Amino acid sequence: MILTDAEKALLDGSGGVARARAMELLVDYGRILGADRLVETTNVAGVPGQATPFLRAFFEPEGGQAAIFSRFDLDCDVVFDVPLAGVRTACLQSGVDPLGWQELGKPEAAFIASRDAEAYAGSLGVEMLRTCTPYLAGNVPVFGEHCAWMESSAVIYANSVLGARTNTEGRHSTSAAMLVGRIPYWGLHRPENRKAQDHVHVKVPVESVFEWGMLGYFVGEVAGEAIPVLDGALSQPDVVRLKHFGAAAASSGGVELYHLVGITPEAPTLTAALGDSRPDTIVYDETARRRVWESLNANGTDEAVDFVMLGCPHAAIEQMREVAGLLDGKQVTSRLWIFTSRAVRDQAAAEGLLRVITAAGGHVLTDTCSAIGNAVPPGTRVVALDSAKQAHYLPAMMGIEAWFGTTAECIDAAITGRWRGVAP
Ligand code: F3S
Repeated sequence: MILTDAEKALLDGSGGVARARAMELLVDYGRILGADRLVETTNVAGVPGQATPFLRAFFEPEGGQAAIFSRFDLDCDVVFDVPLAGVRTACLQSGVDPLGWQELGKPEAAFIASRDAEAYAGSLGVEMLRTCTPYLAGNVPVFGEHCAWMESSAVIYANSVLGARTNTEGRHSTSAAMLVGRIPYWGLHRPENRKAQDHVHVKVPVESVFEWGMLGYFVGEVAGEAIPVLDGALSQPDVVRLKHFGAAAASSGGVELYHLVGITPEAPTLTAALGDSRPDTIVYDETARRRVWESLNANGTDEAVDFVMLGCPHAAIEQMREVAGLLDGKQVTSRLWIFTSRAVRDQAAAEGLLRVITAAGGHVLTDTCSAIGNAVPPGTRVVALDSAKQAHYLPAMMGIEAWFGTTAECIDAAITGRWRGVAP
């Protein structure tokens, strides 16, 4: 791997032990990936220093938080002082809501571990966004910006909608990148790797968040880990629609980048998105859409719903407004959890939406979700979801039945306790 003089100096310890170890980790990682150099990154999103009760107890004898970062994040044999983040770094979602951990059924030890890890990371200059939607909480990378992000739904949004460049990184590489502002130059950092490989032609109108989620689920299934380009009957999407579209495509498949002709920045035309490749066209029509809906509802048999979970990826303020509007003056009979970021929660409180949702018996939770936090209300047998991503993961993870539908259908289930969703 070819390193610049500045990178060699960091590797040799000119920036201190922690940065030398971080460089060592990134160089090893890059070599394994076949990268011939590193690239400067100005935007990192990971989970630096975050702790569970197990990690906390395991590393307590060696020095607590510094040991978690040195030994676990950077995979080193020694414990060292960790300097301030060298580049802008955000902390993504965790497993615990600091206000709602009891509602989530978490032990106090999990809350304490998370609280102390947050204080530690904050002291290093990490922005504690605690969300899978950093782009809704103030971190919006610009076109062409090299990032080092974790979280598949955030990665696909950054690459596709914003035109930033990131692979799906892990805890170790993001914690290292945070210290030295470098990441291996491979995969989606390289412009030649960003051309579409599959072509999906959409023949059925795709307008609502629900429709965009199903289309994303279809695209992930057919594209796998390839880069798809879509054209056809797509209405103008918005942030929420693309949030659900990308999260679904990154769940049923491993899509990290997609192009929408005439909409996303690297696809002014179909030819521009495809470059030299000319793949066969895959059609998304009414039959395909029906099949996706059936597959997302495949394990729902019992219409008695005891839990409704919304906010995957974390709800945007528009979605909080929609939920509050649907709940206004009503009462839920099923448990209702809506997950969002702290930033959106604050705005929802300012608009009076939290009051409406809480008065109806719903709970607004932050920092985590049912899948990441492994949390559903005690005794849950049947859940209703408006997220294809959550419908993909949660039933298998928690051994429960799931229904997938629109947000309005889910709120109806929360109020009536019955699933009355219909196929599109
Ligand atoms: Fe976010 Fe959890 Fe979904 S972290 S993307 S709400 S699985």
